[in-house]
Amino acid sequence: MCGIIGYIGNKKAGPILLDGLKKLEYRGYDSSGIAVIDGGVISVIKSVGMIEALDEKCSGGELLNGTVGIGHTRWATHGAPSDVNSHPHLSSDKRFAIVHNGIIENFESLRTELKSLGYKFVGETDSEVIAKLIQHLYNGNIISALRAVIDRLEGSYAVGIISADKPDTLYAIRKDNPLVVGLGNGENFIASDYTAALEHTKRFVLLDDKEIAEITATSTKFYDINGKLVKKTPYTIEWNIEEAQKGGYNHFMLKEIYEQPKALTRTLRPRISGDEIKLDKIEFDAEHLSSVERIDIIGCGSAYHAGIVGRSFIEKHCRIPVNNFLASEYIYSDPITGPKTLTIIISQSGETADTLAALKLAHSRGSKTLAVVNVVQSAIARAADDVLYTHAGPEIAVATTKGYTTQIVALYLIGLKMALKKGTITTKRYKELIRGLTKLPDKVEDMLLETEVEKIKEYAEKFYNHKCVFFMGRGTDYAASLEGALKLKEISYIHAEAYAAGELKHGTISLIEDDTLTLALVTQEKLYHKMESNIKAVKARGGTVIALASRANSKIKSCSDLLLTIPECDDDISPVLTAVQLQLFAYYVALKRGCEIDKPRNLAKSVTVE
Ligand code: G6P
Repeated sequence: MCGIIGYIGNKKAGPILLDGLKKLEYRGYDSSGIAVIDGGVISVIKSVGMIEALDEKCSGGELLNGTVGIGHTRWATHGAPSDVNSHPHLSSDKRFAIVHNGIIENFESLRTELKSLGYKFVGETDSEVIAKLIQHLYNGNIISALRAVIDRLEGSYAVGIISADKPDTLYAIRKDNPLVVGLGNGENFIASDYTAALEHTKRFVLLDDKEIAEITATSTKFYDINGKLVKKTPYTIEWNIEEAQKGGYNHFMLKEIYEQPKALTRTLRPRISGDEIKLDKIEFDAEHLSSVERIDIIGCGSAYHAGIVGRSFIEKHCRIPVNNFLASEYIYSDPITGPKTLTIIISQSGETADTLAALKLAHSRGSKTLAVVNVVQSAIARAADDVLYTHAGPEIAVATTKGYTTQIVALYLIGLKMALKKGTITTKRYKELIRGLTKLPDKVEDMLLETEVEKIKEYAEKFYNHKCVFFMGRGTDYAASLEGALKLKEISYIHAEAYAAGELKHGTISLIEDDTLTLALVTQEKLYHKMESNIKAVKARGGTVIALASRANSKIKSCSDLLLTIPECDDDISPVLTAVQLQLFAYYVALKRGCEIDKPRNLAKSVTVE
């Protein structure tokens, strides 16, 4: 989705903006642009395609003089990717330039109104109305104009604004779309996410809905919709810039796969002290817990899959029925929820529009909401009653890896803590699982050794040309298969499908023919014989099977064609380990196919519009 960076300081803005835009590339985009004020005049340069094209057009930003500016990466929604539709957009008198993330829902009526007043529109975007509307409502006081703009806009927006009348000030407004103000030394920033400004500062202030930021190189002021000054407390982001850079890896995705031992440690370590689980401020009040009759786990994409893994674990140990919902389905389903339902919302970015809407809906119906989120102070983290941060660190590759495995581990911690409180788990089993969890980071480390990865590379080489790959498993292995298939299709563009192995005979078996590749996940000891029959059924129809099983499972080798292994681990928490093998498999297949691994076509990292 679109990205915003804004700069004000004493350095040349162009190169800083371009650099910020490069950091935002991962969000997905199809055009980009920057606007800088110099001598009371706003200059704009835009380009369709990769940022390199913009970079070339403005000589790395050097072509534009001036120390105040805004930049944007656009992911087309209204109007095709083109120079006129790219941001920044100018007001008709060229005195204002704006960049916008989100969707202005009433843009058509505003456009008609402004056109009738003589304003000329050059493109088809909803965003252009904002620039024209600011000009129209401006009466010499920009803060008043922006308050009036907020009053007129419907939909979601994060907007960065510069004005030729106030060449030493940068403005921002927002509603339902993320925007942070980065605080530097003699310079300040606005950004749609931390990574764009992280190289310059770790101190941020979050702009709240319908607030206005007025920023100079050395000061920040915030106003509410009534024009009243609002006091804000800055916070520090514990991410470092190295985590948001490739650091010698060819792709962010590979780097993030290799960061999993560290990321998992960060999710686990602060929460486990001896045999005790401390979930930050989350206590699970015994009275509330005893009243909870159901848990709904909601997310999109991989976060939804993490929820499915979490469901098996929580149901098994807490003896509470758990439902999984895709956020986009939940919000239009008139869900049955209320005070007796606990809603767990999962989101790496904390900004996914559907997930946020689901949270608000559950909340409005009286359900307590608990968010499992990576990005600190994100919209979902702030809207939920309770939040458990995964602390995975910045995730740049569109296809999530460490974001997903840390979500699973967070759900395990939640499940264990609730189970102990409810008395539905024995102390022995609880301790076993705690021990299992604390060993996970080392086990992942072990799997990432070069010798272990060689086999995956070999299989990728062998199968990268396949048109279709199936993933199958039972129980928690089925949940893990869903994510394995999603990873492969997202980055390699191979059709991949996961199915519960017991369903094979109810349809999928008709697709098995000579050489069809199936990855069979076999980590659940009690289901081993069932899986063995499923593998045999695939092989009997000419299919090739790679089994993914525990190193301790020596029997599986004889019934499958090829084998991938995970270190021995408790069956209940194996999806974290199988995920790593499946991520690597998808990565090396996509690499072999020459795909754009970090930025797969048509996909965006953070889906902030419905
Ligand atoms: C996009 C990303 C996925 C992610 C999903 C949910 O589709 O490409 O990797 O799983 O959004 O994102 P969230 O930030 O809410 O976890």
